Amino acid sequence: MQLTDKVIIVTGGGHGIGRALCQRFAQERPRGLIVASLNPDAAEEVAKEVSGIAITGDVCDEAHVKHLVQFAEERWGGVDLFCSNAGATVKGGAETPDDDWQHLWNLHVMSNVYAARAALPGMLARGHGYFLQTSSAGGLLTEVGSAAYSVTKHATIAFAEWLSINNRRAGIRVSCLCPSGVHTDMLDASDPVHQFLQSHAVTVEQVAECVVQGLAEEKFLILPHPEVADFFAAKPTDYDRWLHQFSRMKEKWDRPRKQRPAA
Ligand SMILES: NC(=O)c1ccc[n+]([C@@H]2O[C@H](COP(=O)([O-])OP(=O)(O)OC[C@H]3O[C@@H](n4cnc5c(N)ncnc54)[C@H](O)[C@@H]3O)[C@@H](O)[C@H]2O)c1
Repeated sequence: MQLTDKVIIVTGGGHGIGRALCQRFAQERPRGLIVASLNPDAAEEVAKEVSGIAITGDVCDEAHVKHLVQFAEERWGGVDLFCSNAGATVKGGAETPDDDWQHLWNLHVMSNVYAARAALPGMLARGHGYFLQTSSAGGLLTEVGSAAYSVTKHATIAFAEWLSINNRRAGIRVSCLCPSGVHTDMLDASDPVHQFLQSHAVTVEQVAECVVQGLAEEKFLILPHPEVADFFAAKPTDYDRWLHQFSRMKEKWDRPRKQRPAA
């Protein structure tokens, strides 16, 4: 998909990767660009930078997601590209409270379901449309420090696959953005897993450039870190070896910093 003259919605558009997507998309001269964010000031600031429209709301609320699409339909006649990018993390394993599990499920899965419910009928009627869903390398592999993030980002990919398979022949395209570390507020410098991610992190501008290329090629997986494709390919080749390698990395990250061998 080429972005010139298209109508685009970006959730989580006020910060980090979402903000960079809005800035990069603006260079392609879209017809309409909605900067959706939880934070009204951030949405307004980015919207001003990219000559877009700021809309504030929570993507876990279906009414908000519906409103984003309705706004685009009334103003520009439809949505061409819906980027579900909003996300967050919660550290921990099985002990993570149910409310946090549910929140990440709503944020990383139901927000994509709501986007499809709202935007797909119009896209199918027009015979074309595109969903970009931000998952993570943790959705293809794992995020060692967060069970809820890993599981829900896997589910983001599962829904994206389903959406693509069921609507491809009707002209609908779906891409899944799966970065490893990216320099944004999401990386926590005090967390050993995030310290590792930070050591090979890319910038938000690099991610945005990779997205524009991936959309142009209509690739399902958009991977700003090429090595993620190698780790992913290693998984079905020898699943037990893959599990062993990740468990060794975890062992290393669990050691106090001064005892850790160099990365
Ligand atoms: N930074 C990384 O290393 C990294 C790696 C892989 C994937 N990701 C994914 O990239 C996406 C963007 O994250 P980022 O790194 O730019 O972090 P960020 O914290 O800078 O941005 C996250 C955005 O999501 C928004 N958001 C969170 N909950 C929301 C909600 N309920 N409703 C609406 N908006 C909400 C926040 O307001 C913020 O604008 C996320 O889905 C994240 O999981 C990030």
